[in-house]
Amino acid sequence: MNFDEIIDRRGTHSSKWDSMEALYGVSPDDGLAMWVADMDFRPPACVQAAVDGMAAHGLYGYYGEDQGYRDAIRWWMAERHGWDVARDEIFSTHGLVNGTGLCVDAYTDPGDGVVLFTPVYHAFARVIKAADRRVIECQLSNNDGRYEMDFDAWDAQMDGTARMAILCSPHNPGGRVWTRAELQGVADFARRHDLILVSDEIHHDLVMPGHTHIPMPLVDAGIMDRLVMMTATTKTFNIAGSHIGNVIIPDKALRARFAARMGGLGISPNSFGIFMAEAAYSPKGAAWVDALVPYLDENRRLFEAGMAAIPGVAPMPLESTYLTWIDFSGTGMEMSEILDRVQSKARVAPNHGHTFGLGGESFLRFNIATPRARVKEAVARLQDAFADLQ
Ligand SMILES: Cc1ncc(COP(=O)(O)O)c(C=O)c1O
Repeated sequence: MNFDEIIDRRGTHSSKWDSMEALYGVSPDDGLAMWVADMDFRPPACVQAAVDGMAAHGLYGYYGEDQGYRDAIRWWMAERHGWDVARDEIFSTHGLVNGTGLCVDAYTDPGDGVVLFTPVYHAFARVIKAADRRVIECQLSNNDGRYEMDFDAWDAQMDGTARMAILCSPHNPGGRVWTRAELQGVADFARRHDLILVSDEIHHDLVMPGHTHIPMPLVDAGIMDRLVMMTATTKTFNIAGSHIGNVIIPDKALRARFAARMGGLGISPNSFGIFMAEAAYSPKGAAWVDALVPYLDENRRLFEAGMAAIPGVAPMPLESTYLTWIDFSGTGMEMSEILDRVQSKARVAPNHGHTFGLGGESFLRFNIATPRARVKEAVARLQDAFADLQ
């Protein structure tokens, strides 16, 4: 594991690098891709070995007999998160955007409201709207550069039309690791308004030192009859193209509804994803994650310090994920000017904050899961692009 190795991903159908110019006007020739959530690192050797083993065998038929795969998931959740999962609670979807869409389909009807705590991962709203459901944006409070929950305000927004809430825990894009009290508040909110609670915990393994993620089932056993958990290997091990996710549903009746939708759409596992996930959820995979997190933490420290040195620019302290959320409102500039400086002058491509919903308008999200030399280069270029503010 050499996270400093610069691997040229251009011309490999990498969304992050090969779609950057079309989306952001930043050329991959000299630009820095800091947007979509994948890392510029190779996955652990155990994952590569699983793919090599498949290729050497050379037969790619339907996947069956999946007890080892289910046990690997159970091992990971117990070992790394203290959470006991039963084999029959696990569904394998084609990723968690797919899992979100299936939940929307299974548990709500057209016209129903789905609550999002915004700003939040943009695909949630896309999926909800595409299914003719309504997004109800309950905005997080930005208290001195830290997102907090405002249940009184959110209670006042509820008009009885919401059927589901989707929580992102830990939070993308704010990087918060929610406290037990905050998570209890979300569970109580879901019960108070009779909502199915979908807890997307895809970022749960990438938690910065000093913070502890609490899986929702460990917060409140009374929430199990309305809870859908979503986790995955894909962010943790940088294998997003394998398009596989764990949707874990403790309640039998909710499981039956989910299974019916999966069956109705003919969704069955991609064998590459299963082989890779089983290999990743292992002691060797765990050792790799234990080396990765301190590397990300140092990138975070460098990037946050570099951004905080620009007058009017304020990074939110990143407690989890490798997606730094930076507030440019203090510069007093229009977003068009900020983007001109970041994209045209510095040649850096970040995600645009408004796409994450209410409250994201003055922010940009930068992905720092890249070799440290690139993080340093990005800091230098961005400081230069705003040098007149010094
Ligand atoms: C909170 C969250 N959920 C889901 C996803 C994507 O999941 P998948 O690639 O499994 O569809 C992301 C990707 O960044 C994410 O941040």
